Amino acid sequence: MFFQPIVAAIAALTLASPAVSTQTFLNTGTTSGWSSQNIENKGSIQQVTNVVYRNSSTALKFTQVYDSSWTGRFHSEKAETKVWKLGDQGFYGFAFRLQEDWQATPAQSYNIAQFIADFSDTNCDDWMPSSMVWVIGDQLATRVKQGSICNQGLKEWKGLKTVTPGEWHTIVIQANWQSDDSGFYKMWYDGEKVVNATGLPTMIDDDRAFDFHVGIYANAWHDQHGMKGTQGTREIWVDNVAFGTTFADADPTRVQG
Ligand SMILES: *[C@@H]1O[C@H](CO)[C@@H](O)[C@H](O)[C@H]1NC(C)=O
Ligand SMILES: *[C@@H]1O[C@H](CO)[C@@H](O)[C@H](O)[C@H]1NC(C)=O
Repeated sequence: MFFQPIVAAIAALTLASPAVSTQTFLNTGTTSGWSSQNIENKGSIQQVTNVVYRNSSTALKFTQVYDSSWTGRFHSEKAETKVWKLGDQGFYGFAFRLQEDWQATPAQSYNIAQFIADFSDTNCDDWMPSSMVWVIGDQLATRVKQGSICNQGLKEWKGLKTVTPGEWHTIVIQANWQSDDSGFYKMWYDGEKVVNATGLPTMIDDDRAFDFHVGIYANAWHDQHGMKGTQGTREIWVDNVAFGTTFADADPTRVQG
């Protein structure tokens, strides 16, 4: 008699909580603990203690410097390899801060984070980013890649929120990486859901593993063959990078350290 409600309660609990909490990556603003890094030309990455997110004891400071004589790209990024592949699902979070006097340039974007993999074997692309998070002007943007490596489609979300320089902000992405209409892509900014896209492809039809890169990638300086505005030194701080199977695992506000 009395066991029936218990069985029902257990059944309801099982249905309501499909994801077991597992944190798969954590970096609380240290230069160690990453798979690799990419620092080009005059860029730099420093572990600092003077500007940190909340209670963190350290943060990472990423700098890139415009140089008109440099024909390469402008990355300063930390990387974690093989974070997800087609068919996976997960949460990916970090805290970031633009320098206090960050100059908003509406015609040029600055990437903060990207998922990327090497496709040079395909003869259609080399290192191809799928989803990215960037600022353009004072606005936050993100995207997913669709289609195939030789026929890439894009879905972008721009003008999501105003990013205040000199203040810490948080990003959490939840994605179900699918190349058909069964995918979803959700993004929270400072705890508020700003993208809620369901029933769409969120990835190209390739099952190789994608890496996660975070920091600053001043892509427009290379892609547009020059710098707009007058701020040739760009700084972004990053802290509490975390991935996992639940929101809490990846939530930068919950990470201590
Ligand atoms: C910061 O640290 C204090 C003392 O350990 C703790 O009580 C508080 O919850 C922490 N706050 C955050 C946001 O982590
Ligand atoms: C997100 O999208 C789903 C599916 O369309 C919908 O059920 C849900 O209410 C949406 N949530 C928010 C916060 O907009």
